[in-house]
Amino acid sequence: MKTFSRYKKGSLLFAPLEGVTDEPYRKAIQEIFPEWDYYSCDFYRIPTVGKISPKMFIEHFGEKQFHDPKVMDKTAFQILTSARAQNQRAAEILAELHIPHLDLNLGCPSHTVNSNGGGAYLLSNHREMIQVVSTFRKNFPRAFTVKIRVGYRDDASFEETLKILEGEGVEAITIHGRTRDQLYKGRANWEYIKRANEIVKIPIIGNGDVWTAEDIEQIFSETDCYAIMFGRPAMKTPWLAKIYKDYLKDGTSIDETFLLYERKGYLQLYFETLEKEFRTIGFHDDLLLKKFKSFSLNLFEDYQEGETVRSKFLRSMSFEEFKNHLWNLK
Ligand SMILES: Cc1cc2nc3c(=O)[nH]c(=O)nc-3n(C[C@H](O)[C@H](O)[C@H](O)COP(=O)(O)O)c2cc1C
Repeated sequence: MKTFSRYKKGSLLFAPLEGVTDEPYRKAIQEIFPEWDYYSCDFYRIPTVGKISPKMFIEHFGEKQFHDPKVMDKTAFQILTSARAQNQRAAEILAELHIPHLDLNLGCPSHTVNSNGGGAYLLSNHREMIQVVSTFRKNFPRAFTVKIRVGYRDDASFEETLKILEGEGVEAITIHGRTRDQLYKGRANWEYIKRANEIVKIPIIGNGDVWTAEDIEQIFSETDCYAIMFGRPAMKTPWLAKIYKDYLKDGTSIDETFLLYERKGYLQLYFETLEKEFRTIGFHDDLLLKKFKSFSLNLFEDYQEGETVRSKFLRSMSFEEFKNHLWNLK
């Protein structure tokens, strides 16, 4: 049976999300929806030039959480890099800092990142991918995983990529079932997750378009993936892991009526807790409003007249107005 030292089979993982999963956000989610089994910080870009120091890594992760062993036990540190970056030095620092789990981002589709030789670009250049992966594997002694898409332009080298990563000593692979060129178009293809599971012996973590509790059941049963990672669905329904676990525990209905009924209370709790966390790092009303508007983009999709509800939040002229909309939610 496949195993991974950091979490059990069947775990539900909150994905790394740039601009979202920073320390205050993760703290808020951990406080109110502890049903998520595992987290990751968003990617830290390893610099190509200039001095790199331990402090830079600690600040990216969040200093308080970095010094909390319970949190470190449940969180991966994600990096984004290219073959030209200071990988050896970065790996040594991460090892010296006793980071327990390092995850390498090989899925980022950003044009800028890819044209600098990072993210999903490395799926199209196996020589550079091996250079990067082996440098981290040789210099970082603890858990090391990789997060990929199924290819860059197409899926032609998918199988080879998996075998290389396994051969280099990567301990688990998260697969987002799209190529880089597909960006977020269409629906992620879980067939790749199933295939990968048969091709390599290491655990495969399924990712992409797992929106509902029914989707969770379906992806587990169709692919037998080791765990599931949630990005946009976790932003849309931050209590999704709770819904699924409640359902497993006591058969609580997971149908839409239940979700709609619960949602107002969850949303208020979500924003209230986020406000508390962001205020502790000095956010004032204007910054909170900007941040909360960006979080609102992913909410309300299943609301009746969701577009109208969302645009009310997005058009708020003040933080006070935003909060009024929240309290007046149906
Ligand atoms: C706003 C946003 C930020 C993201 N940031 C990261 C990141 O920092 N690292 C990473 O590996 N993937 C990142 N991703 C990709 C997601 O982790 C995930 O792989 C992708 O969204 C597909 O899964 P989903 O359908 O569950 O969203 C990001 C995605 C979004 C939408």
